[in-house]
Amino acid sequence: AALGTGHTRAKFILMGEHSVVYGHSAIALPLPALSMDVEVHAVGGAARIRSEYFSGPLADAPSTLAGPIAAINAASGAFDVPLDGLLIDIESSIPAERGLGSSAAAAGALVHAFADMAHRRISDREHYDLVQVAERVAHGTPSGLDAVATNSRVPVLFAGGITAALPMTLQGSFVIADTGVRGRTRVAVAGLRRLREERPVWAESRLDRLGRLAEDAVADLAEARGEALGVRMSEAHGILSELGVSSRELDVLVTAATAAGALGAKLTGGGQGGCVVALAPTPAIAADVTRALHVAGATRSWVYDTMVPVT
Ligand code: MEV
Repeated sequence: AALGTGHTRAKFILMGEHSVVYGHSAIALPLPALSMDVEVHAVGGAARIRSEYFSGPLADAPSTLAGPIAAINAASGAFDVPLDGLLIDIESSIPAERGLGSSAAAAGALVHAFADMAHRRISDREHYDLVQVAERVAHGTPSGLDAVATNSRVPVLFAGGITAALPMTLQGSFVIADTGVRGRTRVAVAGLRRLREERPVWAESRLDRLGRLAEDAVADLAEARGEALGVRMSEAHGILSELGVSSRELDVLVTAATAAGALGAKLTGGGQGGCVVALAPTPAIAADVTRALHVAGATRSWVYDTMVPVT
């Protein structure tokens, strides 16, 4: 039996990617179709890791695993769990570098597994702080949105470091589709930072608007205003394109989704690759939208039905 286990899920950003980095509000939802599971076993010898990307001694892990390694070290220290003799097994169905939160989900599942080993019930805050240690190693200046969203079963509003669970009565399906192109969050964030330095007034007015769209979307979710939410999603995509974080592939998928009956669509996550999210009012339209997205070049897709509780 495992000494400790941890589970987290993917997330998608409904509103507010990039503007959240500058303190504006954002909304993220869990994507339970994709998950991250960690099991820690006692096998003896030097600490080892087993994952899709690397299996071997912790000490030999490549730099692509710098985030998870930072999470392991932080959690081992925080919960007083020595690493010697452990086999840390990371099982993930979340594709990496698609803006779906795989790095925060990995760190989050590792932190849960180490807390479990120490028989500790940790607060959300304690969990968040440890995940952010790993996220800073992986991403530089993460807003913290991924750390919160990958550890949540409900939609969350993230505003200036404060998190609130969001009520949702909206009936519909969010279709998330992958361009097949790696997202480049770090590059996109750096590009926007330069743009904001060069044209501060222009950029800040757009970032403000993205934050405002996120705040208005809170009521759309609570009061089941699908059409209004769709319009806001499409407006957000237009602004994100102006800010240089979209790509040709993302724009093609957004157009295809709306043409197939989506109420709105936008890129989701860091952009310049990665995924789009489209809102479909019914399961039948979600199926049409999914088909159209694949015809337009999407390599994979997932559906989040707002009426199915996340476990
Ligand atoms: C990445 O999932 C979302 C960004 O807003 C970056 C961040 O929040 O740190 C692009």
